[in-house]
Amino acid sequence: MFILIMLASTNEKYKFSLNNISHSFNASQVESIEVLRNINFNVYEHEFLALIGPSGCGKSTLLNIMSRLITPNYGEVLLDGRPLRYITTKIGYVSQADSLLPWRNLIDNVAIGLEIKGVGKRERRKKAKELIARAGLEGFEKSYPNELSGGMRKRADIIKVLAIDPEIIFMDEPFSALDVFTRQMLQDYILDIWQEIHKTIIFITHDLTEAITLADRILLMTARPATIKSEYNINLPRPRSSFDIMFEPQFIEIHKTIWNDLKEEIAITGEGDNQNF
Ligand SMILES: Nc1ncnc2c1ncn2[C@@H]1O[C@H](COP(=O)(O)OP(=O)(O)OP(=O)(O)O)[C@@H](O)[C@H]1O
Ligand SMILES: [Mg+2]
Repeated sequence: MFILIMLASTNEKYKFSLNNISHSFNASQVESIEVLRNINFNVYEHEFLALIGPSGCGKSTLLNIMSRLITPNYGEVLLDGRPLRYITTKIGYVSQADSLLPWRNLIDNVAIGLEIKGVGKRERRKKAKELIARAGLEGFEKSYPNELSGGMRKRADIIKVLAIDPEIIFMDEPFSALDVFTRQMLQDYILDIWQEIHKTIIFITHDLTEAITLADRILLMTARPATIKSEYNINLPRPRSSFDIMFEPQFIEIHKTIWNDLKEEIAITGEGDNQNF
């Protein structure tokens, strides 16, 4: 009995855990691609974790497994110490692609998750309006996605997820399609949100500067079949600003260290000329 209580409490100290995750895709009837090999890590409540790895190594596959969009061939995903078997609204997901519906205006796009949850029209519009204002999009409530800039649409994607009040937020290269200035503004926006709501965030990127700017901890994935190669704690002070932080000696130092580690994996995939690194 005592041992059981001990085990339960050990698991529960993590918000999210991956135990021995391995996954392959069938490329054809005879050939299979091994994408993930024995991935293990834990995520603490309120932590901002970045996962970084070379292009095509399996980052999105891993996030899809973590949100149960894909069932892994092997291994277990735990949320609050309990096996996660189904898709849940406890997890919010922001992807690289636009998720706004072109025929809905901003307020109705932001409120869509609340509508699915059965929240009444008045209440969901009130909540959406508040989030829109806090995201600096006041005045655009009636605008349609094609009337908004890429950066504004991305903010809308994020508040659409915040509206359902998830416990944990997954982001899969959300800013990679944006220009460098807009990307920096969005990084500051995420830093502000995290500072305010302090939810667990797992953020995938292949931009090392972005990972160091945002995260408390970075996990580096190897080339395919991907496994976790290294772990780095980012002890830069908070609150952070994406512009100022780049000039901190500590930032330059850790950037150099991780880059040396990462470039070995990029060399394996032959993506060395990718500017995002
Ligand atoms: N549904 C699928 N069926 C077959 N192969 C797949 C499938 N999804 C992904 N793959 C393959 O798995 C590998 C990993 O893909 P994944 O999209 O997870 O990588 P990634 O690290 O997210 O890449 P990127 O940096 O381009 O976003 C790739 O070789 C890809 O072609
Ligand atoms: Mg991907």
